[in-house]
This record gives sequence, C-alpha cells and structure tokens, in this order.
Amino acid sequence: MGKNRLLYLSYQDVVDVDLTMPEIIESMEKMFHAKGEGRTEMPPKPGIHPGAGDSFIHAMPASIPDLNSAGIKWVSGFPENPAKGLPYISGLLIFNDVQTGLPLSVMDGVWMTAKRTGAASVISARYLARPESSVMGMLGCGGQGRSHVEALKVLFPLKKVMAYDASEDARNQYAEEISAKFELEVVPVQTPQEAVTGCDIVVTAGPMVRPPHATILPGWLDEGAFASLVDYDSYWQPAAMQETDIFCTDDTNQFRAVQQAGHFKGIPDLQADLGELVTGQKPGRQTPAQRTMTANLGLALDDMAVAPLIYQKAKDKGIGTWLEL
Ligand SMILES: NC(=O)c1ccc[n+]([C@@H]2O[C@H](COP(=O)([O-])OP(=O)(O)OC[C@H]3O[C@@H](n4cnc5c(N)ncnc54)[C@H](O)[C@@H]3O)[C@@H](O)[C@H]2O)c1
Repeated sequence: MGKNRLLYLSYQDVVDVDLTMPEIIESMEKMFHAKGEGRTEMPPKPGIHPGAGDSFIHAMPASIPDLNSAGIKWVSGFPENPAKGLPYISGLLIFNDVQTGLPLSVMDGVWMTAKRTGAASVISARYLARPESSVMGMLGCGGQGRSHVEALKVLFPLKKVMAYDASEDARNQYAEEISAKFELEVVPVQTPQEAVTGCDIVVTAGPMVRPPHATILPGWLDEGAFASLVDYDSYWQPAAMQETDIFCTDDTNQFRAVQQAGHFKGIPDLQADLGELVTGQKPGRQTPAQRTMTANLGLALDDMAVAPLIYQKAKDKGIGTWLEL
C-alpha cells in the first residue's frame, strides 16, 4: 500500500490560493441551508486556557455532508500577543476525508477566520438589512474591518464608510487603504457615534472585553438600520440593543451557551438564527423602518464551509507542500 500524504498550506499558501469573497459567501449559504435543515454536525467547542487573562485555545470540529467537508480548527486568541509583536489570533485547520477519515490537509486558519466572519455578516445582512443600504459604519479598523467592507460590497451598493478606530493612525491608514482598494468614500471619524448615527449598516469589531465597555448608547442607531456585532456585546449598551425590533445570531445553541457564561445580559429575545433565516423558517426584516441586529459568534461550520474550497483550489493550482503521514 502506498504512503498516504497530506497537503500542508501555510498562511501565504492560503492567500495565494486566492479564493474570492463571492465563492466564500456562496459556500457558506449552502452550509446554512444544510444547517437549517438539520444536515450538519457541530458539537459545542471545548476550550483550554493555558495563558494569562482572557486567552484561549478552542477546538472547533464540524461536518457538512452536503459539501463533503469534515474537520477541526484549533484556534487561539492571546490578547497580550500584539504587545510582543505576535498575532492575537493564530490557528490551524485539519481537513479530513469524509469517506476514510484520513487527514487530507493541514492549513493555516487565520485567513479564513477573517474572511468567513465577514461573509457570515453579509449573509445575515441579506435577510436583515435594507437592500439599498449604502452607508456603512465600521468601528474597529483591523482585520475584520477590512473583510467586512469586502464582503458587504458583494451584496450592497456601498458608497461611503464612516470609519472609527480607537487608534487615530489605524483609522487614517484604513481610510487610505480601503478607499483606494474598493473605490469608496472612507471618512475617518473621531467619535464612535459618527460611525453609528446616519449609517444603514453598522459593524462593531473592536476588542472583546469583559465587562463590555458598552460605548454605544440608546438613540444612536437609526430607524431602518442593521447592526452586526462581531465583538460580542463589547460595544453596545443593553438598552441600545433593546431598541432593535429583530435580534438574531448565527447559532441559537452556541448563543445560549455564551449567554450562560455571562455575555449578552439584558438583551432582546432571539428572533432567529442564520440557518432559520436562510431556509425561511423564520422571517427576517419585514418593514423598512425596523432596526435589526445580529450577534454572530463564529461557527466551526463557517470554517468547514471554506476549507474544501481552499484545498481543492490549492491542488488545482499546485500550491502547498505534500507531507507523508
Ligand atoms: N464573531 C466572530 O466570528 C469573530 C471572528 C474573528 C474575530 N472576532 C472578533 O472581532 C474583533 C476584531 O478582530 P480583528 O481580527 O479585526 O482584530 P484586529 O486586532 O485586527 O483589529 C482590532 C482593531 O480595533 C481597534 N480598537 C481597539 N479598541 C477600540 C475601540 N474601543 N473602538 C474601536 N476600535 C478599537 C484596534 O486599534 C484595532 O485596529 C475581535 O474582538 C475578535 O475577537 C470575532
């Protein structure tokens, strides 16, 4: 019997595969359909905490038979890393053969973590935002700030981004880079409120902190606006979340578990999760005036919807290093 091999894909290999945002969104929509119809498997993610403070390493396994996808992402977040010149988030994904269980690939998980989170927000926005939404408010101009503009541009006629970051350098650099890359007007703003009030779509992606800094106050989010909370409940006062007419998440079970761990206190009732929205089991936005919100916490299923595309394209393009098992 010949030796079995797996394809190792470094961060740069994954970037070079050059998967597009529309491809990622399409695959994730298929996954959410399968999830809504009960054809996926995703046990709750266990975590260990060997580092200091809020650091974690999570195991995120999932299976999507419709996409011939199975595997696990092993992802860490160490808040003290940036001060040491190291990335906050790092991780590897193992992609398995669904017929034999053999590992087919080990790939860096950082690129997909950024892209699939933006893609999940835009799938939520398809059901929750007004289709003509053109002004976006971005709070937190890091990796998520970048992938969210890229993702929202796929489905919405974005014209202007109001960009707030606690670091003036970060927001100015972001404005320069994003306006050139996506041919948008990007306005670096000096207060968080300028990136909320007057915007059709608001995304908060600053650091996750406990207790939440809860900077966004009631009365800031316009009628008819949609907000995506990438950084859990860090940015929003409970009373500001209470102003929304529809409050959703990506997976109800995971959301309830995170709530039990102490997040999202005093929020509105959950209306639906993304599987229920995508399959039409529960309605999304019903009137142009409704304020809508999603708190997508990030799913192992998101990663496993993207991994087979990266693996297949890498093989087609001859990217990566084959290693013997
Ligand atoms: N829900 C999910 O699926 C998911 C997935 C990945 C990351 N995240 C979360 O998204 C957030 C952003 O991740 P990232 O990879 O873009 O991080 P990043 O480090 O690349 O960027 C964070 C940015 O926020 C800025 N910032 C700090 N305090 C701020 C404040 N009070 N207001 C506005 N900006 C502030 C920083 O200057 C930095 O530019 C993190 O909280 C991360 O844990 C969520």
